[in-house]
Amino acid sequence: MAFSLSHCLTFLISFTFFFSSSIFLSFTPQGTQARGLPISSLITKQLFDTIFLHKDDSACPAKNFYPYDSFIQASRCFPKFGTAGNLTTRRREIAAFLAQISHETTGGWPTAPDGPFAWGLCFKEEVSPQSDYCDSSNTEWPCYPGKSYKGRGPIQLSWNFNYGPAGKALGFDGLRNPEMVSNSSVIAFKTALWFWMTEQKPKPSCHNVMVGRYVPTKADIAANRTAGFGLVTNIINGGLECGIPSDGRVNDRVGYFQRYAKLFNVDTGPNLDCDYQKSY
Ligand SMILES: *[C@@H]1O[C@H](CO)[C@@H](O)[C@H](O)[C@H]1NC(C)=O
Ligand SMILES: *[C@@H]1O[C@H](CO)[C@@H](O)[C@H](O)[C@H]1NC(C)=O
Ligand SMILES: *[C@@H]1O[C@H](CO)[C@@H](O)[C@H](O)[C@H]1NC(C)=O
Repeated sequence: MAFSLSHCLTFLISFTFFFSSSIFLSFTPQGTQARGLPISSLITKQLFDTIFLHKDDSACPAKNFYPYDSFIQASRCFPKFGTAGNLTTRRREIAAFLAQISHETTGGWPTAPDGPFAWGLCFKEEVSPQSDYCDSSNTEWPCYPGKSYKGRGPIQLSWNFNYGPAGKALGFDGLRNPEMVSNSSVIAFKTALWFWMTEQKPKPSCHNVMVGRYVPTKADIAANRTAGFGLVTNIINGGLECGIPSDGRVNDRVGYFQRYAKLFNVDTGPNLDCDYQKSY
């Protein structure tokens, strides 16, 4: 834990500098004033609670597990999240992230109160895992006996090859203590942001796709992997969901994104689905 704390402190200090320099910049001519604004200015507690209207319902197993403050605290470890580009780009990236974690943890159903897309962050761990998600062929991140690498947290982090590097980056032993991800809401949000921000080749990072920094290779172009929310879905779960016209899971992700983009007052951008994309 000490390691985890010092890891975050490093970023906290640079965050503070970043923030204070933005106060200075706000007096300079237009164009620069948006830079350095913390994401809490783009997503207030009020907006967060409107987005996640039912996360604390007694019907939700994750009731009270995902407070706004934990999200903001976790985001300080990833100062590039929601701070790249102009305000439209920044709001769209945050909306896309929140939409993806909403699908991953959804408690919604077609006739749910306030609609199916008001039920994100309802679960903190996978309910009926089909396996322990141990890829034993992966020798870099070997599974610890008896541990389950099932989906946990906002992005439903799964598999030893994700728990290992996520824990390493965030300062805990993800292979020995995967339960950390559903025991601490700050760690839970950090694992989701880690996944969002980290490139895992040959995939780009979700962040780079949403902020316009993705450059497709020839193979990507041949596979229709062009930038947009659909490509982020491909990065997250394309092997199961992409290349299938009108897949219900893909449409659920899109539905969440459309609702959130509206609440953030931004357009969704092109390529919402991955119906005609090849997976990685
Ligand atoms: C924001 O940046 C994007 C990408 O650089 C650009 O296409 C868009 O026109 C910009 N929007 C505004 C409102 O400046
Ligand atoms: C997580 O919480 C469970 C239940 O309270 C506890 O048994 C376990 O030791 C905790 N694990 C970690 C890694 O903190
Ligand atoms: C790319 O998209 C087009 C339709 O827009 C489709 O006909 C084609 O099969 C797709 N290519 C791949 C590799 O999926």
